[in-house]
Amino acid sequence: MLKVVDFYYVSPTGGTKRAGEYLANVLAESVVLRDLADKKTPASAPAGDLSVIALPVFGGRIPAFAAERLKLIKGAGKKAVTIVVYGNRAYEDALLELNNIAKESGFDVAASGAFVAQHSMCPEVGAGRPDERDFEELKNFGKRILKKLLEGDEREFSVPGNYPYKADFIVPATPISADFCNLCRRCAAACPTDAIAVLDNKLITDIAKCALCMACVKACPIHARILPLPMAEKIRQMLSKFKDIRRENETYI
Ligand SMILES: Cc1cc2nc3c(=O)[nH]c(=O)nc-3n(C[C@H](O)[C@H](O)[C@H](O)COP(=O)(O)O)c2cc1C
Repeated sequence: MLKVVDFYYVSPTGGTKRAGEYLANVLAESVVLRDLADKKTPASAPAGDLSVIALPVFGGRIPAFAAERLKLIKGAGKKAVTIVVYGNRAYEDALLELNNIAKESGFDVAASGAFVAQHSMCPEVGAGRPDERDFEELKNFGKRILKKLLEGDEREFSVPGNYPYKADFIVPATPISADFCNLCRRCAAACPTDAIAVLDNKLITDIAKCALCMACVKACPIHARILPLPMAEKIRQMLSKFKDIRRENETYI
């Protein structure tokens, strides 16, 4: 086991953090949490011997704001394990994009994986994941990573994905606030891109800044923050075929 792992992550609704932090704890005695979505404390350079970098998949890519923040971290040749967490549909170019950014930032990527969590826009898809089986697979992945590091195995590997990447994810509409919103502003505090402001006692969401990450919806204690109904319905229809299948986790080492 390693002494310290730096865990860099973005996890608007918690699934990516659950999977990534579990893996980080398999790898090291102590884990330093480095939330790339934190607006107040920009994440700093890794202190430990290994970093785990975990990002969610949005539209087959990694969220643009997460990519920008990761680019600011200097890997300085240190080892990293990268994972993308997706909602049981597909991760397409996300892992390739993550690895390219991690390498450009100076990390030496030793292993990668794609793991499934509940879909943050449609909870019936990937419901309950990561589950016990996923955690078992994360544990085994961790053991294989430790073995590779211990043996000084520098073997290269490749991950799936295409060039050019899938088109940038365009936000079609932002979450909205229902009439019973009491302006507690927890949604604004949770928003990683500062897209939400209060104007004339109303919440205003800047679509140019919104990543549609669902952090605001998750943060609302009275469920007043929701997706516009036509959008929620369209997403439910689009994703219904992924409700009854189980996508398997994939690892590359
Ligand atoms: C805007 C948006 C786009 C998404 N696109 C995909 C996708 O392309 N493929 C997929 O399988 N899941 C997709 N998801 C689901 C998330 O990848 C999944 O729920 C992930 O666990 C979210 O991370 P979090 O729980 O840390 O917020 C998307 C979710 C959002 C909010």
